[in-house]
Amino acid sequence: MCGIIGRFGADGIDAVDDVLHGLKNLEYRGYDSAGIAVQGPNGIDIHKQSGTIDRLAAELDERPPEPRSHLAIGHTRWSTHGRPTDENAHPHTGCHGRVAVVHNGIIDNHETLRAELTAAGHEFDSETDTEVVAHLVEEYLPGAATPRDAFTRAVGRLEGSYAIALLVDGVDALFATRAGSPLVLGVGETGCFLASDVPAFLDHTDRVVYLEDGDVTVVTADGYAITTLDGEPVDRPVETVEWDPEDTQKGTHDHFMSKEIFEQPTSLSQALQGRVDPATQGVTLERFDPGAFADVSAVHLIGCGTSYHAALYGAILLRQHGVPAQAFLASEYSAVTDSETPLVIGVTQSGETADTLGALRTAQEAGLRTLALTNVVGSTAARECDDVLYIRAGPEIGVAATKTFASQVATLVLLTARITSDVGATPVDPDCLRAITSLPDVVKEVLATSNAFDLATRFHTADAHFFIGRGAAYPVALEGALKLKEISYEHAEGFPAGELKHGPLALVTESTPVIAVFTGHEDERLLANVREVQARGAPVVGLLSESSTTVAGVVDEALTFPDTHPLLSPVPATVQLQLLSYHIANLLNRPIDKPRNLAKSVTVE
Ligand code: G6P
Repeated sequence: MCGIIGRFGADGIDAVDDVLHGLKNLEYRGYDSAGIAVQGPNGIDIHKQSGTIDRLAAELDERPPEPRSHLAIGHTRWSTHGRPTDENAHPHTGCHGRVAVVHNGIIDNHETLRAELTAAGHEFDSETDTEVVAHLVEEYLPGAATPRDAFTRAVGRLEGSYAIALLVDGVDALFATRAGSPLVLGVGETGCFLASDVPAFLDHTDRVVYLEDGDVTVVTADGYAITTLDGEPVDRPVETVEWDPEDTQKGTHDHFMSKEIFEQPTSLSQALQGRVDPATQGVTLERFDPGAFADVSAVHLIGCGTSYHAALYGAILLRQHGVPAQAFLASEYSAVTDSETPLVIGVTQSGETADTLGALRTAQEAGLRTLALTNVVGSTAARECDDVLYIRAGPEIGVAATKTFASQVATLVLLTARITSDVGATPVDPDCLRAITSLPDVVKEVLATSNAFDLATRFHTADAHFFIGRGAAYPVALEGALKLKEISYEHAEGFPAGELKHGPLALVTESTPVIAVFTGHEDERLLANVREVQARGAPVVGLLSESSTTVAGVVDEALTFPDTHPLLSPVPATVQLQLLSYHIANLLNRPIDKPRNLAKSVTVE
């Protein structure tokens, strides 16, 4: 959902190189068009176009900005206002090229501002909401004591969500601010960065300042200064990020998605580390002392996309243990509750998804306690919620979420163990907590032995793929279908198996394979649904554990995973489905890490 970066380098630093490299690491946020603005002795030099960052880099290779500059901003776009054309690509400038701006978010009052500026004689080049920012600053520059004053005066006029980085011609400074969209300051030996996310500059520095809404940051040769819009100094801690720069590179894999699927044994180990006592199966969640959830009478779990599927799993799990719980799509959430003290858990990999943040804010306004279950330290959800629990999956770059789903599920099992213990509900089976410590090995074995590629070669040209499951297998079915449609563009749907006969069965033919997810719970009832499907001629692929011999005797094809506790089967089952989707998309030659029309982090509602 657009990525921005600004670089103020020390003497001798080529900001263009750093900005381009940073944009590559932010490409998961959008990839419709890209651009860069470079501060130079003869004005601000803009290079921008529709298409990928590689295209932009090739153009910059042919026409490098001369001389080298230590100051530049860049943008990678996921269109919201205006088509992905060269004109609509960022950076945007004012009429006289005195100001260049990159922006992530939406300026809600852009039409009013555009009308006002047009009346004042400004001419606009693009259809974007962003362009008003450049014109506004340009409008205020002549009357302002300093460029910073013009910047803050313009920012004061903006309504909506934004992270902005801005250059003013001839001014050796990088201006930035945020409201509702992420912005992180990187503080390095060779100068500073401002970016939508840490991977943009992790190669250069792991020292970061998580900026807050309303912070105005100005970077100059003297360092950085953070103030309020009114100029009051703001003190923000410099924190050290624990992610490894290697984690943001593809390594030997063809795609980030494949790398991240294969990282799951490690990312799961990280999620579990220090949280389950192997001897007693006691669960320790940092930040939550025993009894921390004692007053929780019900739980709402909210999320979007893959995170919603994890939320659904969490709700099923809690209900199975006697805790009233419900999962909601964040965009459909309303905090109305008949329970006195619900805990609202926002499940969000990025911690920046606008729909999820909106739902969490709705919950907070209703006086409900909120907890962010997220991967990104310092993200908006982590900062705004009352509590935070990290899934510790490490950076995920592929647009299709993979390793973060597994880590969300594992963390939700531990959270369920803690909530049930605190409220005196049915405890999570100690065998499950014993088995969870071996989950990384179970996944390792799936990765080493999977026959998903063979099935992909058989079924990649099917008319449609349907995924069915019951109970905790239902979110797996939804996730399998989402993965496949996201990256292969093939028609795929997930259904609760019992619902098939109430409509979807009409879609089932010999050319629509049905993938049935068996997690060792309600397998008999699911087998009945499998027989209904087989009676209509559809081939059935059973996703099942190795010891499920009865099921294996009924289904037409099998994708197996090692035996584990039924509550944990969704993890290895999902890994098989990730592999199946990956291979199908690869056979169809799809751009796996950057599916059309999608972005990893969707920061608009
Ligand atoms: C986008 C991504 C999905 C992701 C969803 C929620 O739609 O393409 O892969 O599941 O956002 O993201 P979050 O960061 O909140 O988990």
